[in-house]
Amino acid sequence: MSTSSDIIIIDTTMRDGEQSPGASMTHNEKLALADLLEGMGVDVIEAGFPAASAGDFAAVSEIARRSKEAVICGLARSTEGDIDRCGAAVRHAARPRIHTFISTSPVHMKHKLKMGANAVLEAVGRSVSQARNLVPDFVWSPEESSRSEFVFLCKCIDAAITSGATTINIPDTGGFSHPEEYGRLIRRLREAIPDSDKVIWSTHCHNDLGLAVANSIAGVQNGARQVECTINGLGERAGNAALEEVVMAFNVRGDDLPFGSRIDTTKLSSASHMVSRITGFPVQFNKAIVGKNAFAHESGIHQDGMLKNAETYEIMKPEDVGVSKTSLVMGKHSGRHAFRDKLESLGYDLDQDAVNEAFKRFKDLADRKKHVFDDDLIALVDDQLSAMGERITFESLRVVAGSVGPQTADIALTVDDEHHSVEHEGKGPVDAVFNAIKAIVPHQGKLDLYQVHAVTGGTDAQAKVTVRLKGEGIMATGQSSDPDTLVASAKAYIHALNKLEARRLKRLAA
Ligand code: KIV
Ligand code: ZN
Repeated sequence: MSTSSDIIIIDTTMRDGEQSPGASMTHNEKLALADLLEGMGVDVIEAGFPAASAGDFAAVSEIARRSKEAVICGLARSTEGDIDRCGAAVRHAARPRIHTFISTSPVHMKHKLKMGANAVLEAVGRSVSQARNLVPDFVWSPEESSRSEFVFLCKCIDAAITSGATTINIPDTGGFSHPEEYGRLIRRLREAIPDSDKVIWSTHCHNDLGLAVANSIAGVQNGARQVECTINGLGERAGNAALEEVVMAFNVRGDDLPFGSRIDTTKLSSASHMVSRITGFPVQFNKAIVGKNAFAHESGIHQDGMLKNAETYEIMKPEDVGVSKTSLVMGKHSGRHAFRDKLESLGYDLDQDAVNEAFKRFKDLADRKKHVFDDDLIALVDDQLSAMGERITFESLRVVAGSVGPQTADIALTVDDEHHSVEHEGKGPVDAVFNAIKAIVPHQGKLDLYQVHAVTGGTDAQAKVTVRLKGEGIMATGQSSDPDTLVASAKAYIHALNKLEARRLKRLAA
């Protein structure tokens, strides 16, 4: 058992996070995210579910191969095939780990598994023994712990420990528990199970009642020494405990929560940006720690207090989580060197070609916009990274809009390296743009969400557009920014469409 107060942080953004509808990530995006997570000190990266698809298997294997210090974990159901596949994917890591699970709650056993208690108990022993023969580091989860019958839960955990589990993870799968209850569950389990001090206890809390972070902290206060969490709280339904919130709660409230982690908190903001860019899920403005407004002070009384002393209204410094103090960037006369430094300070690690391309885009933007702020640069680079290697790319757009119809869009795209252009009408300019794209790339996706935000203030601000497409049971979200709202809309639609097509092909292949 870990006796130190250090908490093992396991990030499951690429597994539980990717399970959230529309949040798919490509192979290269997963590699880049794994590099960032390892660089920021995440102890364990749950990199995927290798048996789910060939793509998942390839991503987990490659992340394992590239890993240095972090433990690389894969998830498996309790079947022989899943566990073998998972073992084959993680074995390349310096520190491989397998995580298997089976439901222990009456409702799941009856309706989902259609298995009786004895069969579940037997599966626990069999699956844990199989996995332990493949790797020395092994996590077992009784799915739906918080709605399981206590005595049966203890029996299953006891069987897992006897068969060789090294960590026991207690999922609040439905996000049903509350802090006092979840903390009590961890404490009671540790007290009731004979060899409980031979394993590490872990939390895995979903956010359906908005209590995931509070529940995770209660678990730690009652003896858990590992927290499973995700960047931006991404995950099934309402998501998981947000890594940045758990880590900063320990960091800021060390006086009352004497627990630490190895996380370099100055990388939290870049991690949040990267996950938002990759998934196309915008970060809520008032999201704790990484939201756009997390350090903004609007009311006169607050601003006055802040001017007198920042401690009046800020319990942590923006720099502590990687938000730079000065947000006004260079103008069009700024040089390439300063530009590169700025990108680095914003958490981007780009190769020379990518910096050159970003610099060109920055110069174009600076020609159109008086002040280029950090948020503009972030939007610009995110856009460039999202479009890299995509099948369908934007070339140009001309739109006729206004109160006298018809509104038309004349768009040019490249699809699989071939140039295409078309002119199309619509019920308004956005409709015309989307119709034109669909005329070039026919598809089944229906528009599920269309959202526009200004990246900064001012009438010359860039528009950040989010588009979600839904079709054939798949969802994909795209984002893009441009000073022209309609260009941003076209690019966001294309981004979502690329993801939708990639997911469709991945599903076909699986
Ligand atoms: O929420 C859950 O129960 C899970 C398990 C697979 C650990 O994600
Ligand atoms: Zn989960």
